[in-house]
Amino acid sequence: MQSIIETHNLTKRFEDLIAVDHLDLEIKDGEIFGLLGPNGAGKTTTVLMLSTVIKPSDGTAVINGIDVRKNPDDVRKLIGICFQEPKLLWVSTPWDVLNWHAKVCGLSTEERRARVKQVLEDVNMWEYRRKKVHGLSGGMRKRVEVAKILIQRPRIAFIDEPTAQIDVIGKHKIWDMIRELREEGSTIILATNELYEADVLSDRVGIMHKGGLLVCNTPKSLKDSIPGGDTVAIRLEKEAPRAVLKKLESMKDVANVVVLKPNDLRVYLNKVEEMVPKMMELLLKNRLPIESIHMSEPSLDDVFVHYTGLTIEEAESKTTSKPHK
Ligand SMILES: Nc1ncnc2c1ncn2[C@@H]1O[C@H](COP(=O)(O)OP(=O)(O)O)[C@@H](O)[C@H]1O
Ligand SMILES: [Mg+2]
Repeated sequence: MQSIIETHNLTKRFEDLIAVDHLDLEIKDGEIFGLLGPNGAGKTTTVLMLSTVIKPSDGTAVINGIDVRKNPDDVRKLIGICFQEPKLLWVSTPWDVLNWHAKVCGLSTEERRARVKQVLEDVNMWEYRRKKVHGLSGGMRKRVEVAKILIQRPRIAFIDEPTAQIDVIGKHKIWDMIRELREEGSTIILATNELYEADVLSDRVGIMHKGGLLVCNTPKSLKDSIPGGDTVAIRLEKEAPRAVLKKLESMKDVANVVVLKPNDLRVYLNKVEEMVPKMMELLLKNRLPIESIHMSEPSLDDVFVHYTGLTIEEAESKTTSKPHK
């Protein structure tokens, strides 16, 4: 597949903070590309530069052969964006917002009516179509923001945290609609801090941390790249002494032990069925009662842990910067 977006050293500074740090990214035509990372990783800033909302401080991006710095107006003809923070007029109604958006996108009156109705129904907002935006919940406003891009059906769709504040059923519906958009030929850049969303939706995922790209591949290849085919999360009632950790690490079939907290371990290993009883025996013999033990296949969180030593959730709690509009 050919690439439709390439970034070269793409960088954004806000005074002395580097929000996006010399990012080199390649997005293929027709794929759903998940940009995954904790809050503050630089996803939104990247999306805003690619969609010509803000200018790079350094480097550039080329979208379908067009440079975002040199010809932003030509880029704008190709793209649509669903903002993380919906930009809606408070006094408008969902119907007005979408009808106007459809008009700007050049839909005929007939097409407009049909599509606005269909999309409002699809995102479960039909019964609220006449309510003023300021009276809607955060999740409802987000649905209206997502609906805009579903109406527009742009060649390249930037979708920033589409299901934040939306319930599980609503999430699945929106995921299906994003997939449909891709089936119809759009390339989709999905920024998300939700592991599961990135995993189930993306053809490829780029994991961002502190403005840079840690790794980029299909979800399966990323998960397969972790040493040891299985993950065991163990929470102990007290801290594990160094000597016990060493023993754990040296067990046959254990590939790696990550100490998230002194009593919170993630063990990457093979032959999980054989190894769990052996590990339990070792821990109990060393008087370390187990609070919980959880086995799973590696997730994208484990990929993040592998590269940073932190879970995505921990990386988020370490972000000190405030949310911004
Ligand atoms: N307009 C801005 N002014 C100052 N700092 C900003 C601005 N936009 C983003 N940042 C900072 O840049 C970093 C990356 O933010 P953002 O791109 O929103 O991350 P993400 O979308 O991954 O959560 C954060 O530290 C954020 O506070
Ligand atoms: Mg963001």
